[in-house]
Amino acid sequence: MSRPARILVTGASGQVGVDLVDTLRALTPPGADALFQPDTTPVGDDEFAVFALTRDELDVTNREVVRRGVATTRPDVIVHLAAYTHVDQAESDRETCFAVNAQATETMSLAAHDVGAHLITISTDYVFDGTKGSCYVEDDETNPLNVYGASKRAGELLCASDDTIVRASWVMGVRAKNVLHVIADRAASGETVRFVNDQVGTVTLASDMARALVTLARERPGGYWHVANTGTTSWFEVARYAGEVLGRGDDFATPILTSELVPAPAATRPARSDLDTSKWNRSWAPLPSWQDGVARLLRDRDQRVRG
Ligand SMILES: NC(=O)c1ccc[n+]([C@@H]2O[C@H](COP(=O)([O-])OP(=O)(O)OC[C@H]3O[C@@H](n4cnc5c(N)ncnc54)[C@H](OP(=O)(O)O)[C@@H]3O)[C@@H](O)[C@H]2O)c1
Repeated sequence: MSRPARILVTGASGQVGVDLVDTLRALTPPGADALFQPDTTPVGDDEFAVFALTRDELDVTNREVVRRGVATTRPDVIVHLAAYTHVDQAESDRETCFAVNAQATETMSLAAHDVGAHLITISTDYVFDGTKGSCYVEDDETNPLNVYGASKRAGELLCASDDTIVRASWVMGVRAKNVLHVIADRAASGETVRFVNDQVGTVTLASDMARALVTLARERPGGYWHVANTGTTSWFEVARYAGEVLGRGDDFATPILTSELVPAPAATRPARSDLDTSKWNRSWAPLPSWQDGVARLLRDRDQRVRG
């Protein structure tokens, strides 16, 4: 019998990290569709040996710590999820944002190559400026509008050509702070919400991304891959649909324009940055629809809140 593949996960306590670690350990993370296996193969109990490292255990901006951590664990694959994800804060914290998203990604790539491991890292739809007018494919021109997007693009360019770079957008996990939890709290307390209808994109359920990452860890394809749930939507439509799932009426969510947000967000976001996932879909099963993902997240969140 072949030995388990050794997988090192950075940023293991983040949204995608907690779901990926469960999935690699053959557990079903909250919010997952147990039937969705991109390459049709469920994870076996002993398929992976997992080294799940949080910021306290492996600060990716510390090259010596990274070098030692990788040399000790000798992974076959590194899934690099550690990231600076505070998009608005990044506008006034450029140095830290680039240290984590750009320089540390290069550090991880170099460390992976030193031990013959394959690097998989996640980037973002915010590398695009949103002016294309249709969904973005992997080799479309990039032009980030904000510091976060620029730092992630810099990280992409600092990777080696055989690393795997996954672009995701609007990531939502059950066990994390994200906008869907805010919407659900407001729905439960009888409040209403206002969400922008002029920012269009794709949703990525953290648990669905986790399954996709397992496939990539098995196949190690290299290159750029757009991975997101199926279908394009707006933040308003996400809020409206969540309200519907939670039993709220048509008056729950009101559409507004980005220009109406008070205070105005520090970071400019692309108006339309939905990801075209055709390349992924030609190789493996498409991720479920965004509506299916949102409904699953809300259902499992509800069980966690009650339980
Ligand atoms: N969230 C989104 O909407 C979105 C959209 C597109 C792409 N992505 C990308 O998807 C990936 C996963 O995102 P996510 O939503 O899971 O992010 P997340 O929940 O913010 O998790 C990121 C993790 O990285 C850790 N981290 C930050 N600085 C670190 C450092 N110097 N060393 C080690 N760990 C560090 C954070 O630790 P602390 O908790 O201690 O800060 C956190 O656990 C990231 O690459 C992100 O850029 C996210």
